Amino acid sequence: MTNRTQVGIVGAGPAGLLLAHLLRLEGIESLVLETRTREEIEATLRAGVLEQGTVNILNDTGVGARMMREGFVHEGVYLRFGGATHRIDFKELTGGRTIMVYAQHEVIKDLVKARLDAGAPIEFGVRDVSLQDLETAAPKIRYRDGAGTLRELACDYAAGCDGFHGVSRPSIPSRKRTEFTRVYPFGWFGILLEAPPATDELIYAHHERGFALVSTRSPQIQRLYLQCDPEDDVKQWPDARIWEELHARLANREGWKLTEGRIFQKGVIAMRSFVVEPMQYGRLFLAGDAAHIVPPTGAKGLNLAVADVWVLARALAAHYRGGGDGLLGQYSATALRRVWRAENFSWWMTSTLHRFHDDTPFHHRLQLAELDSVTSSRARATALAENYVGLPLD
Ligand code: FAD
Ligand code: DHB
Repeated sequence: MTNRTQVGIVGAGPAGLLLAHLLRLEGIESLVLETRTREEIEATLRAGVLEQGTVNILNDTGVGARMMREGFVHEGVYLRFGGATHRIDFKELTGGRTIMVYAQHEVIKDLVKARLDAGAPIEFGVRDVSLQDLETAAPKIRYRDGAGTLRELACDYAAGCDGFHGVSRPSIPSRKRTEFTRVYPFGWFGILLEAPPATDELIYAHHERGFALVSTRSPQIQRLYLQCDPEDDVKQWPDARIWEELHARLANREGWKLTEGRIFQKGVIAMRSFVVEPMQYGRLFLAGDAAHIVPPTGAKGLNLAVADVWVLARALAAHYRGGGDGLLGQYSATALRRVWRAENFSWWMTSTLHRFHDDTPFHHRLQLAELDSVTSSRARATALAENYVGLPLD
């Protein structure tokens, strides 16, 4: 059975759902295809930090109301090292820009609801997705729908928003793409716990036992991470071990105390940097994790996905308004410029804050000197703040 749409979108993560939303506001029809169920995508725990530009896009396009009620605006972050805590004041250093702590799955819920309320389609639970004829003017997406029926979606353009393990990127012939990868020799152990917030802003902690991060989710639920072996299993991390490590890595001379609580979720996150170039092949445009991965330390992954589709939606809108294909032709170069700057920032945050398995006392001292420099030089603190709140979208 063949259906038709203007833009076929593979994947209902932040990239696919926001692209569909932006296109709908431009009067452009799309169909979103997602392998998982609505319940699954709305329950997957991932990012928590939204850049100022991401917040603005969600607000300006009518899907930010719950975020504004339930999210937390943070005006800075703390860097803790050598037992002392230093604040980077985003608002002051960037002329008023801040970040929002609001969980990715809440953004997903808001986008899914907005789309379904508008009567626009998302097909959940699809299988066997494949992309065809991408180098022609009539690309197609074949898949099995939730009932198992084989379908073909004819579209003008395909958007590959299906994450790092999706089918879109491998649909580009390998001779037509260049991939850049770095895998880090550590991961993050993430927990959710029932406790009041221990801090008013995020704490990124450097310690000789490894990195730790204190974030938040709500007045009752906190999100914490600690550096671990990427091969670790959650079974190797009983609660007592988690608390011991967190207390040690977050130790400070200022009397700050970590608030303990019931841990109700644990998971290990692998860390890599990855970019594919270009982010376009024929009529296929890649966006978000399908095209690039950053280690989570700079909180850039979700925000890069948002920036990609913002650029892509404008380019598609220009095309359908009869404004030509200039912006579509520039999509990959425009997106990659921001991607590489975010890759650089995330790599820097990761390298500066984590313990490497081959660390020497010399390397440890260099990391401390780097952190000293960032927290005592206004120029360097400003550079960190500008990157963290997000580079301008234009
Ligand atoms: P995804 O969210 O991966 O969505 C892709 C979707 O496509 C999925 O729903 C998947 O089921 C679907 N799919 C896959 N294959 C197919 C197929 N063949 N057909 C159809 N659908 C398919 N980023 C930040 O900006 N800030 C943070 O604070 C932050 N913290 C993070 C913390 C953790 C623990 C993790 C794991 C990540 C974090 N990130 C953060 C990164 C962020 O979560 C990702 O960059 C973001 O999810 C990318 O969105 P996406 O839409 O490109 O891909
Ligand atoms: C969170 C995740 C991150 O990757 C980060 O750098 C900061 C906060 C979070 O999940 O809250």
